[in-house]
Amino acid sequence: MVRVTKTLNPGLKGNDAEKLNRDLHKRIVGQDEAIQQIVSIYQTFIAGMNSPGRPIGNLLFLGPTGTGKTRLVESVAESMLGDSRAVIKIDCAEFQHSHEIAKLIGSPPGYLGHRETHPLLSQEVLNQYHTDRFKVSFVLFDEIEKASDALWNLLLGILDKATLTLGDNRRVDFSRTMIFMTSNLGASEMGAILRPNLGFSGFENEHRATTGRTDVAMSTKISRTAVEAARRKFSPEFINRIDKVIVFKPLGSNELDQILTLELNQLQQRIFNAPNSTPFIFNVSPSAKKFLLQEGTDLKYGARHLKRAIERNVVHAFSNLMASSQIRAGDLVMVDTDPELGTLSFVKEAEDMPTYAMVQMIDMSVPLSAAAMAMNQETETPRVVNARSSRR
Ligand SMILES: Nc1ncnc2c1ncn2[C@@H]1O[C@H](COP(=O)(O)OP(=O)(O)O)[C@@H](O)[C@H]1O
Ligand SMILES: [Mg+2]
Repeated sequence: MVRVTKTLNPGLKGNDAEKLNRDLHKRIVGQDEAIQQIVSIYQTFIAGMNSPGRPIGNLLFLGPTGTGKTRLVESVAESMLGDSRAVIKIDCAEFQHSHEIAKLIGSPPGYLGHRETHPLLSQEVLNQYHTDRFKVSFVLFDEIEKASDALWNLLLGILDKATLTLGDNRRVDFSRTMIFMTSNLGASEMGAILRPNLGFSGFENEHRATTGRTDVAMSTKISRTAVEAARRKFSPEFINRIDKVIVFKPLGSNELDQILTLELNQLQQRIFNAPNSTPFIFNVSPSAKKFLLQEGTDLKYGARHLKRAIERNVVHAFSNLMASSQIRAGDLVMVDTDPELGTLSFVKEAEDMPTYAMVQMIDMSVPLSAAAMAMNQETETPRVVNARSSRR
């Protein structure tokens, strides 16, 4: 034995957790608390310190639509399993009646159709995405406030004992599963705190202008409101089974700006990867970005509205320009604004660029996810759609 005095740093993370942290920060804008919680739960799991006989983590995500709840779960799967679709997604609203619960757990032996039902939550389904390195599953229960009593009971069992009993009495083990639940409960109350007509970004900007920082008290108030709404709606036995309630904040103009850059990069990669498409490069001027942000800012639908603005104004135009051969492979296209028409303008600035030169111009720092890639295979022209990416 050698006696030493070394101060240890409990904040330091292992390589795997550090990679997860990095990957999530690249993909998700402005939800740092959520990322931090997931990384720390994962770190606890790798160290083998999580509670035995329970899921790896039970996380409840609250907050408005389009703030990155689903995207975050997909990004965790992407980082760890290399596939953003490796998430088993259960839309709680779809399992209201008892025969629909049978879709999840299968029906008892002897029931009509027993053999044909393949339960959506069997062990095989949970394990299907495991890799040699990572034997971890991700299950997302979306909109849990819409769950029927039957689904609710099933969920309570999973959260508490990490087991589920199927219709034919087989048991499914959830102890290597991260459970995510989302609810936009409290979202309207959160909206009400924000100033009418200003929204979070308006408030932020105004506040930043005078104080140079975003309002921490405001942010705390928003979180508290959402958590209180959840406590009112959900039973204590449910809340007690949750490891962490995480509130997704409404996105401000700063965040939307960063998401716009991310989305435009993804669109560029998609254009380049589409099998039947025309590889070309586009640039977007600052005024065109401003235009898209103006069109795409909506407190109620978060970044979803921004994605729709990109689709409407950029993707549709590109599709037409390609279909009418005005854009060809090897072109460089500038997207700008037309001050007179109040729309975007498209100007070809170069043509016949060699592929290797174009490839170098693409920002690949966040590579196209498997889900977006699969979408390319299905569509001829690049399309921005809300990726409902999990397999069912
Ligand atoms: N915080 C965010 N960071 C990056 N992209 C985001 C963020 N929030 C939303 N998005 C974009 O908007 C889309 C819709 O967001 P989503 O995660 O489905 O919202 P919800 O919170 O309703 O689950 C995502 O696929 C992503 O492209
Ligand atoms: Mg969602």
